[in-house]
Amino acid sequence: MSARLLDWRAEDSAHFGRRPLALRHRAHLSPLFSDAALIRLIDATPRAKIHVNTMPRNVRDPRQWREGDLGKLSGAAVMAAVAKGNLWLHLRRVHETDPAYGELLDALFGEIADHVPGFRSYRRSMSVLVSSPKMSVAYHSDVPGQSLWQVRGNKRAYVYPAAAPFLPQRALENIVLKRDRDTDLPYNASFDAQATVVDLEAGDWATWPRACPHRVVNEDCVNISFTTEHWTDDLRAGYAVDYANGLLRPWLGGRDLSRKTHGPAALVKFGVAGAHKVLTGQLARRRPPRLDLNIDFRVDPAAPGGFVDIAPYRVAR
Ligand SMILES: [Fe+2]
Repeated sequence: MSARLLDWRAEDSAHFGRRPLALRHRAHLSPLFSDAALIRLIDATPRAKIHVNTMPRNVRDPRQWREGDLGKLSGAAVMAAVAKGNLWLHLRRVHETDPAYGELLDALFGEIADHVPGFRSYRRSMSVLVSSPKMSVAYHSDVPGQSLWQVRGNKRAYVYPAAAPFLPQRALENIVLKRDRDTDLPYNASFDAQATVVDLEAGDWATWPRACPHRVVNEDCVNISFTTEHWTDDLRAGYAVDYANGLLRPWLGGRDLSRKTHGPAALVKFGVAGAHKVLTGQLARRRPPRLDLNIDFRVDPAAPGGFVDIAPYRVAR
């Protein structure tokens, strides 16, 4: 793809990764996102890399978020169920399933690097989201750098500051240390007054600083989007400091700990986080994977909500 994919304003360069940004792209014109391509992608994606979720409409409690499976449905049947139902389909790491998505991912981040001096990203990934009219994603925070790219349909993203009360330091540390699910964050409707609200239509994208809590609400139409994740040295340093703060917290108490990524204390924290990662990595290799997903519905294009309840079972991820 040789044409430029991003529209970029001069001021975006200084703000990228430092504040929530609403930007424009042309990736939505790619044939990779036609219905036929998406059907092929669903069929090609290993089931272990597919999440399908539902949640009652107009509910913001993340504990109501349910995990389902696709049974033996074809990609076309899954698309039909999403169009009529109340479903959120998440195809993880599509660049690993089809290198064409990886080429698009590299092209997008190549252009970002052209615009942002010193920006060097790695461990990038792309996931595709196909979601029903009026579906929403509850308030949560992600660990890597995040962007949300709109391909079709309309949605509204609410992005909140990555600081208390929106993101208490202890909650962030627990997410980084994987002690909590990323959805276990306290949400209060009063937070919305300080959210950056981004309305996304085809060709829009949004990106925000590391760990900013966010939630997303679809308008009354099927939404095709993709998300990208990336790491930079700065993101990794911030992650290591939060990781070490979480480990040190039992000794240092309930007060807020420094989140600085420079200076002697930060260097000690990089060492603490690195040593812990090596140790727990060695321990994890001796343990079987933990069972952590409870599957309790199956997608069904004939059912009113696009799914039927099934006897719950657990899968390891
Ligand atoms: Fe997210």
